[in-house]
Amino acid sequence: MGYAETYAEWKADPDAFWMRAAEQIDWIEPPTRALDDSRAPLYEWFTDARVNTCWNAVDRHVEAGRGDVLAIIHDSPVTHLKRGITFRELQKRVASLAGALRAKGVTKGDRVIIYMPMVPEALEAMLACARLGAIHSVVFGGFAAAELAVRIDDCTPKAIIAASCGVEPNRIVHYKPLLDAAIDMAGHKPDFCVILQREQEVAKLVEGRDVAWHAFQFGVEPAECVPVEGNHPAYILYTSGTTGAPKGVVRATAGHLVALNWTMKAIYDMEPAEVFWAASDVGWVVGHSYICYAPLIAGCTTVVFEGKPVGTPDAGTFWRVISENRVKSFFTAPTALRAIKRDDPKGELVQDYNLRHLRICFLAGERADPDTIEWAQRHLKVPVVDHWWQTETGWAIAANPMGIERLPVKLGSPSVPMPGYDVQVLDEGGHPVSPGTLGAIAVRLPLPPGTLPTLWNAEDRFRKSYLGHFPGYYETGDAGYVDQDGYLYIMARTDDVINVAGHRLSTGAMEEVLASHPDVAECAVIGVADALKGQSPLGFLCLNKNSARDHGEVVRECIALMREKIGPVADFKRAVVVDRLPKTRSGKILRGTMVKIADNQPWKAPATIDDPAILDEITLALQSLGLARG
Ligand code: COA
Ligand code: AMP
Repeated sequence: MGYAETYAEWKADPDAFWMRAAEQIDWIEPPTRALDDSRAPLYEWFTDARVNTCWNAVDRHVEAGRGDVLAIIHDSPVTHLKRGITFRELQKRVASLAGALRAKGVTKGDRVIIYMPMVPEALEAMLACARLGAIHSVVFGGFAAAELAVRIDDCTPKAIIAASCGVEPNRIVHYKPLLDAAIDMAGHKPDFCVILQREQEVAKLVEGRDVAWHAFQFGVEPAECVPVEGNHPAYILYTSGTTGAPKGVVRATAGHLVALNWTMKAIYDMEPAEVFWAASDVGWVVGHSYICYAPLIAGCTTVVFEGKPVGTPDAGTFWRVISENRVKSFFTAPTALRAIKRDDPKGELVQDYNLRHLRICFLAGERADPDTIEWAQRHLKVPVVDHWWQTETGWAIAANPMGIERLPVKLGSPSVPMPGYDVQVLDEGGHPVSPGTLGAIAVRLPLPPGTLPTLWNAEDRFRKSYLGHFPGYYETGDAGYVDQDGYLYIMARTDDVINVAGHRLSTGAMEEVLASHPDVAECAVIGVADALKGQSPLGFLCLNKNSARDHGEVVRECIALMREKIGPVADFKRAVVVDRLPKTRSGKILRGTMVKIADNQPWKAPATIDDPAILDEITLALQSLGLARG
């Protein structure tokens, strides 16, 4: 059956479609129906089932006689280490860690924060939580202590599992002092912390609170898998929204299992025991879905890569990893390919490796520019497939389903909606627009299994952020259009979210940080086009009246403040002092116009502008940074 038939089959009977997909999961009690719409417009899936995620990702493969297959390959050019863990070993390690957590009182429904770099123990910690029905929340290592503290206060974890350090190419990331500072800042205190001591830096443990990874597990009884209800939260993953407070995206257990398992064949064309590699980080949704859960649920080997596309040691690293580990499907962000292309424009390093096992290269996380896709196609000689999704959905909204039918690739488009997603492009009034017309991209409710049912502790915010604007639809926050063939084109965000190196960041959150600087009276942050990272944040600062401070000094302090409050991941390196910000007569800052000026796009002062002369001042300020040069 091809794509069109599969999509039509889903549309004709979604319940039957997902119940069939559910047959691939090991249930403790199977679901009797797929969709639960009793609280519409809030929807849940497979609510009457009982299941365990860790069983499906680990134990069942051992039971099925595949215990000796590699579950995880850790490939770490930054520490010069490489090791493999079989499903049997993984089962033992995860059962032991889960046993130790249980012995310290962690039970079903408790939250556990995981703050770890790209080591297999990060996946083991996630799976140990899943084994107990505990709800994990993984925090990316590039966030500052203050961001970690916000997450601690929001999900009130019983325990935090962290590593002593991470290894960036230019420095050691001191996780433990960041963790200690975050716990000091937070109102909520975890009962205990488990610390994985790494060779590169052994952390000082806080007596009575911290325990080392191995000592923690000494002599404990391994834990069995705890059954949970289909709608039990598997995890919370925080992502950027319009304001400084991150949104806690909830993932429900059963839908997550069914949907991810379905995607491994349908989208990624993977079979059990084949090697899948998503070059992302466990701190992001790609890491949750495609480094940890989906490959393991499908019985594949997953690669945990601790390195960068360039500089660890060179732009051939990705090709080495693919070749040495016989990767079949590979998933990365366009930024990473742009970084490689910049260092190795002719793709000479690709020639050094045998990529015969590689079949497909998938891209997501940001808009994939045609140049980058063509470069990759030319050198890798496999289909390069863009697909579009979000933390909220957990899996692709639109893709080229390589395991169903290899549709023609259209450059600049992540292809077509996946079964489960009735994607519509809407005008401001919520009416579908015709092909080729730009509009807000929305998905008709209900969203499919595996997508967010709500936000943690914030159902009202969930309704307001996603369901309020277009009744009957989920609002994606992306704008774009559909062409005559039904291919989607994702062009921009409709909110204040920017995308820097495939990382989703909130300009609102950055403005809150700048506004907290004592000399800053008013500010704005925009994302300007960046050849490598897609977008790059840029701050405009209006200083307090009569401020005699040196502008350069304030800018430097603001950059340092951003690193301290949000973290290096914000990649905030540029700001400029201006007298005034351009606004509408009602006081709304004209960020969109500033972006257009900075990016040399055609622009027109909006009719509602308060004082058009300010735009000349903004242009001059941007020119002082080498932007807006026409
Ligand atoms: N822990 C701590 N700090 C981190 C980090 C982590 N896990 N990841 C990144 N950082 C830091 C970097 O060290 C850098 O710090 P610096 O300002 O001291 O140099 C800062 O955050 C910005 O990082 P990044 O935006 O990643 O830039 P970079 O210059 O280090 O690397 C690329 C550029 C393109 C190589 C890199 O961004 C990349 O690999 N991008 C792909 C991203 C990706 O896969 N995203 C997943 C979405 S699917
Ligand atoms: P995140 O939640 O961090 O995965 O970021 C999701 C956002 O990244 C989406 O809403 C888009 O704005 C952007 N994005 C992800 N994948 C793509 C893609 N293939 N093309 C264009 N934008 C994308």
